[in-house]
Amino acid sequence: MGSFARFAAAAALCLPFCNALTNSSYFRPNSTGFRLQHGFETVVVQPYGYDGFRVRAWAFRPPSGNEVSFLYDPPLEGPADATASALTYDTVINGTQNYTMRNGATVVKMFSPNADNATNVRLAFYRVNTDGSESLLTNEYSPIKSLNSRYYEWNGPGYEFSAAYSFATTPDEQIYGTGTQQDHMISKKGNTIDLVNFNTHVPTPLFMSSRGYGFVWNSASEGEMEFGQLRNRFTSKSTTLVDYAITSAQPGDYDTLQRRLTAMTGRAPLPPQWSLGYLHSKLRYENQSEFIQLAQNFHDYGIPVSLLVIDYQSWAHQGDWGLDPGLWPNVSYMAARVKELTGAEIMASLWPSVEDASVNYATMQLDGLLSATRSGPGTTDSWNGSYIRNYDATNPAARKFLWSQLYENYYSNGIKNFWIDQADGGNLGEAYENNGQSVSVAPGLTCSSTWKSLIESIPYPLADVLYYAGTQKSIGKLYPWAHQQAIEEGTRNATGKQQGQPCDYVSLARSGYIGSQRFCSMIWSGDSTAVWDTLASQVSVGLSAAATGWGWWTLDIGGFQADSTVPWSNNIDDDRYRELYVRWQQWATFLPFMRNHGSRACNFQDAYTCNNEPWTYGASNTPIIVSYINLRYQLGNYLTSIFGQLSATGRMIMRPLYMDFSITDPNVVAMTRNNSNVTTQQYMFGPRLLVTPVTLPNVTEWAVYLPNTGAGNGTKPWTYWWTNVTYAGGQTATVPAPLEHVPLFHLGSRADVLSGNVF
Ligand SMILES: *[C@@H]1O[C@H](CO)[C@@H](O)[C@H](O)[C@H]1NC(C)=O
Ligand SMILES: *[C@@H]1O[C@H](CO)[C@@H](O)[C@H](O)[C@H]1NC(C)=O
Ligand SMILES: *[C@@H]1O[C@H](CO)[C@@H](O)[C@H](O)[C@H]1NC(C)=O
Ligand SMILES: *[C@@H]1O[C@H](CO)[C@@H](O)[C@H](O)[C@H]1NC(C)=O
Ligand SMILES: *[C@@H]1O[C@H](CO)[C@@H](O)[C@H](O)[C@H]1NC(C)=O
Ligand SMILES: *[C@@H]1O[C@H](CO)[C@@H](O)[C@H](O)[C@H]1NC(C)=O
Ligand SMILES: *[C@@H]1O[C@H](CO)[C@@H](O)[C@H](O)[C@H]1NC(C)=O
Ligand SMILES: *[C@@H]1O[C@H](CO)[C@@H](O)[C@H](O)[C@H]1NC(C)=O
Ligand SMILES: *[C@@H]1O[C@H](CO)[C@@H](O)[C@H](O)[C@H]1NC(C)=O
Ligand SMILES: *[C@@H]1O[C@H](CO)[C@@H](O)[C@H](O)[C@H]1NC(C)=O
Ligand SMILES: *[C@@H]1O[C@H](CO)[C@@H](O)[C@H](O)[C@H]1NC(C)=O
Ligand SMILES: *[C@@H]1O[C@H](CO)[C@@H](O)[C@H](O)[C@H]1NC(C)=O
Repeated sequence: MGSFARFAAAAALCLPFCNALTNSSYFRPNSTGFRLQHGFETVVVQPYGYDGFRVRAWAFRPPSGNEVSFLYDPPLEGPADATASALTYDTVINGTQNYTMRNGATVVKMFSPNADNATNVRLAFYRVNTDGSESLLTNEYSPIKSLNSRYYEWNGPGYEFSAAYSFATTPDEQIYGTGTQQDHMISKKGNTIDLVNFNTHVPTPLFMSSRGYGFVWNSASEGEMEFGQLRNRFTSKSTTLVDYAITSAQPGDYDTLQRRLTAMTGRAPLPPQWSLGYLHSKLRYENQSEFIQLAQNFHDYGIPVSLLVIDYQSWAHQGDWGLDPGLWPNVSYMAARVKELTGAEIMASLWPSVEDASVNYATMQLDGLLSATRSGPGTTDSWNGSYIRNYDATNPAARKFLWSQLYENYYSNGIKNFWIDQADGGNLGEAYENNGQSVSVAPGLTCSSTWKSLIESIPYPLADVLYYAGTQKSIGKLYPWAHQQAIEEGTRNATGKQQGQPCDYVSLARSGYIGSQRFCSMIWSGDSTAVWDTLASQVSVGLSAAATGWGWWTLDIGGFQADSTVPWSNNIDDDRYRELYVRWQQWATFLPFMRNHGSRACNFQDAYTCNNEPWTYGASNTPIIVSYINLRYQLGNYLTSIFGQLSATGRMIMRPLYMDFSITDPNVVAMTRNNSNVTTQQYMFGPRLLVTPVTLPNVTEWAVYLPNTGAGNGTKPWTYWWTNVTYAGGQTATVPAPLEHVPLFHLGSRADVLSGNVF
C-alpha cells in the first residue's frame, strides 16, 4: 500500500547501474500533466518514472487519496519531475483539443477527432525511436459505434463502479507476464484470465509487450484481463478509481523494460545466503522427535540442507499460530538442536484460518480482526471439520495481532521463517468445500464416500467476504499481498532492518500480487500434481512469474499431490514416480530457490506420513539426487551474483528465451509466438546457463534448441555441461541425457559461472 516509504537505504544499495537524478541526455517531461474533464469523467495523465506515464480516472468523485495502490510513488528511479506523487497538472482540456506530452522516449497524445466532436476522445502512447520517428505502442480502443474505451457501470446500491478499459492491439503483439496460470504458455495472446485467486493461479495485471512497452493495471479489484486479436481489456468489478501506468523501451530490450516496471512496483531485496541452498519439506513431519530425527539423518548422511519445514496441522487449532505443545514440547530446544546438527533454519506453516476452538478466536472476533461476509459475521470457508473465518490481512491491527502470536510462539523460540499457506484470500483458495462438519445420516443408512464428496463439492458461489479495506470484489487482490506484508513488517520490526535491506529470513507464499517482489518472500507454484505434464507446465509458470517481476519463485519438487488418474503418481516406491522425481529434482537445481515438498504415497510406511527425503527414492537414485544438492551449493557465487542483479536493476533470473534472443534469433521470436515447447520449456538461468528439463519418461537423449547469440559464423558459443562439447547457436542439438544429467549448456567459461563473475 501507499503507506510504505521509499526505502531509506536506496542510495546505499545503488550499484553502478543506478541512474543519477540528473541525466542530460534524457528528454525531461515537458508538462507536469494534464487533466481532461469529459462529462462526469475526469482523466489525469502525468509523467511517471523514466519513459513512463501514469493515468488516473474517476467518475464524479475525485479519489480520497486512501485508495489501495501497489505502485511506488515516486518510483525508485526516474527524473525528479516525473513522480506523479500528487494529482498535479499544468494543463486542463475539455475533450475538444489535442494535447501531446513527452517523457524520455515515450509520448502520450490525447486525441479529439475535431473541435466539435468529443465522442471519441482517447489516449495514445508512442515510443520515440532512436532515429526520432514515433511508433504507436497502444491506444485506447474504441471503434465507431461500440462501447467507449473507458467504460463505467454502476451495479450496486453504493457508489463503487465497474470499469472496463480497452486498448488496441494487433494480431502479432505478444503479451508476457500476467502473474501465473497453469497453461503451458509464456505468450498470453488470445487468453481471457479471471482476476480471481486460486491455489496455483495468481493472475496479476502487469505485462511486457513484444511491441516494447510495459503495462500495470494498478487495481486491487477482482475482474478480468482479456488479450484479444484487436483489443486488450482490463476490468475492475468494483472500484472508485482507475489507475494504470505504462512505460517503454526499445524493441527487444526487455531488461530495460523490467528495470522500468520494477522501479514502479518494487525490487527484490537480497535473500539470505543460506536460503540459496537446499530447502527441504514434506507433508508432514508430525512431532518434535520426528523432526529432530530428520536433522540427525541429514547430518548422518552428510547431505547439506539449509531449511527444514514444519507443515500444517502442527497446531492444536486453526488460528492458534503456535505449535501444539502436546507434539512439540520444547521448540527452542528443537531449533537449537536442528541448528547444531545441520546448520539449517526452520520454517513453519501458518494458515489464515481461525476456528471457533482457537485460543485466539474470541479476542479476534471481539476486536474485529476477522474477515466476515455480507450476510453478517459469517464464516468464510471450512476445513477439516470446522467452519472458519480468515484473519483480515487488510487490517493493520490484525497484521499486528498475527505477528504478536507468531513472534511469541515461533520467532522467539528460534523458528523465524514463515510459510504463508492457503493465503489466496476470500476463502482458502479452493473451490468451496463444505467440510465444516462430518456428515451424519439417519440410522440404517450408510454415508458412502461418494455421497460425502458430493456434499463437499456443492457449487455454492465463493464467499462474499468483507474486510477492513473493502469487499472481496473491490480489494480481494490485496489480501495475499497484505498477508506477505504482515510477515515482512513483523520480521523487519524484529530484526530492526528496513524494508529493502538484505533479508535475514524468508517467507514462502502461495499467492502474491503486483510488486510482491519487494518483500523477503518467495512465491511457489501451489499444489501441483505429480505427473510429467505438470513438470513441463511449471517452466512457463516460472517464466511468467519472472516477467511479472517475481524473481523469488519456486515450486514443489516432485509435484505436490497425486493425480488420481495416475496410479503411480507420488508413490516413492514406484520406479515410474522415482524417475519423475529425479528429473524434477535435477531441474530444480536451476530455479531461484531449490525446494523439495510434497504429499507422498508409499508401499512401506515407517513414519506418520510417507517419506520424501533425498535417500528415500531408491539406492541408485540417491547419489544422483545428492549430486544435484551438492551442485546447488557449488553454484553459490553464481546465485549470489544473479540475485544481486535482480535486486539492483530488476534483471530477471529465470529468463524466457525472448529476453535475450529476440534481436539475434528470429526463430526464437517465431517460436515464442506459437508457445512452442522450445520457448515454454527452455530458459536462461541468469546470463550464462541454458536449462532444459527432461519432461518425458524413459529418455536417454534430449533435443535442445540453441539460440543464435549473434556471435559470428563459425563460433560455437554453447558448451554442454556434461561433455564440454561446444555447439554453434541457431540450431537444435540432440545431446545425451541419461537419468543423471539434466540438459544444461553454458556460455563462456565454466570457471566464470562458478566464480559468479558473470556481469
Ligand atoms: C539516462 O536516461 C535514460 C533513459 O532514457 C536511461 O536509460 C539511462 O540509464 C540514464 N542514464 C543515466 C546516466 O542516468
Ligand atoms: C473547451 O476548451 C476550448 C479550448 O480551451 C474552449 O475554446 C472551449 O470553449 C471549451 N468548450 C467548452 C464547452 O467549455
Ligand atoms: C512536448 O514535446 C513533444 C515532442 O517534442 C511535442 O510534440 C509536444 O507538443 C510538447 N508538449 C508540450 C506541452 O510542450
Ligand atoms: C487531433 O489530431 C488528429 C490526428 O492528427 C486530427 O485528425 C484532429 O483533427 C485533431 N483534432 C483537433 C481538435 O485538432
Ligand atoms: C465524430 O467522430 C466520429 C469518429 O471519428 C465520426 O464517426 C462522427 O461522424 C463524428 N461526429 C461528428 C458530429 O462530427
Ligand atoms: C527445553 O530444553 C532445554 C534443554 O534441554 C531445557 O533446558 C529447558 O528446560 C526445556 N524447556 C522446557 C519448557 O521443557
Ligand atoms: C511493526 O512496527 C510498527 C511500528 O511500531 C507497528 O506500527 C506495526 O504494527 C508493526 N507491524 C507488525 C506486523 O507487527
Ligand atoms: C512422533 O512421530 C513418529 C514418527 O511418525 C512416531 O513414531 C512417534 O510415535 C511420534 N511421537 C510422538 C510423541 O507422538
Ligand atoms: C513438444 O511439442 C510437440 C508438438 O506439439 C510434441 O509432439 C512433443 O511431445 C512436445 N515435447 C515435449 C517434451 O513436451
Ligand atoms: C519405459 O521403458 C520400460 C522398459 O523399456 C517400459 O516397460 C515402460 O513401459 C516405459 N515407460 C514408459 C512410461 O514409457
Ligand atoms: C553467416 O552465414 C550465413 C550463411 O552462409 C550468411 O548468410 C551470413 O551473412 C553469415 N553471417 C555472418 C555474420 O557472417
Ligand atoms: C569439462 O570441463 C571442466 C572444466 O571447465 C572440467 O572440470 C570437467 O571435468 C570437464 N568435463 C569433461 C567430461 O571433460
